[in-house]
Amino acid sequence: PRYKMILDLDTGIDDALALAYAVGHEDIDLIGIIASYGNNLTPVTAQNSLDLLNLLGASDVPVFYGASHSTTTDDFTVMEVSKTIHGQNGLGDVTVPKSERSVSDQSGIDFLIEAAHQYKDDLVYLPTGPLTNLALALEKDPAIAKLIGQTTLMGGALTVPGNVTPFTEANINQDPEAANTVFQEQQKLTMVGLDVTLRTLLTKKETAEWRALGTKKAELYADIMDYYIDAYYNLDIDKRGAALHDPLAVAVAVQPDYIDTLPLNMKVTTDRVSGDYGRTIGDTDKLLDETTSKAAVLVDQERFVSDFQNMMLKVL
Ligand code: BDR
Ligand code: CA
Repeated sequence: PRYKMILDLDTGIDDALALAYAVGHEDIDLIGIIASYGNNLTPVTAQNSLDLLNLLGASDVPVFYGASHSTTTDDFTVMEVSKTIHGQNGLGDVTVPKSERSVSDQSGIDFLIEAAHQYKDDLVYLPTGPLTNLALALEKDPAIAKLIGQTTLMGGALTVPGNVTPFTEANINQDPEAANTVFQEQQKLTMVGLDVTLRTLLTKKETAEWRALGTKKAELYADIMDYYIDAYYNLDIDKRGAALHDPLAVAVAVQPDYIDTLPLNMKVTTDRVSGDYGRTIGDTDKLLDETTSKAAVLVDQERFVSDFQNMMLKVL
């Protein structure tokens, strides 16, 4: 494999898809999962990742606990909204057989710092939840800002309204202060925001093809995904299908030609009275600086969705 990858997941239905995609990709050596709060509480998302790895036959991948709440609050009110999309258990209320493995004793923050020093340019850090863990790691060891080869994140939005408030996307909304630290400090950052992920829709036509494989994992993944497609329909998010937010970020980390990007130094609004708290936007103070981040602006959605489907048919 060309890349060592750490997935930082708040597993979550589309996180579960990102996990399957990474497990299946020949260019990715998945060296660990950090569990985040977000779609559910950290202990639940950690267990979901363990159970899915077991289901996918990837039980050698260690799972680490990340932060259990944001750097500024332990209020989980928005989690109730996530549960309407991802189910009470984060996986569409589908029961995945329990893995017998436990979460690693090492903290996810320390695991990330160690991996940054060990793998440097070869390391891809891929958060598909809040940015709390990377912010905490940067605070502990600022050197990782330059060491990590690439940070590609699902979160934010440049050009479309957010999905939590008109200005805020869910992952950034969980911890805008941490996200701002990451945007300000982390080098070689790519933001894959809602502008592009909402164009990548999967439908029940594809999940029917998963079911037709006849395996247990295909059936469970199809049940999980159908819950998410139904939620998109019932909540009127999109009547045509459900968005492949998190797997798109994984795909572009190793195959950047799926997207077009705009080089842009960004920040996250942390002013709570401004009305756009949690917004990802260009940083006025850094207009003349060398750019350290890129924002995705377009995606070749047909090619990505078709390649994603082929990957799922291989993995399941
Ligand atoms: C993001 O929020 C989470 O609910 C999803 O898993 C995805 O990472 C989309 O805004
Ligand atoms: Ca997620």
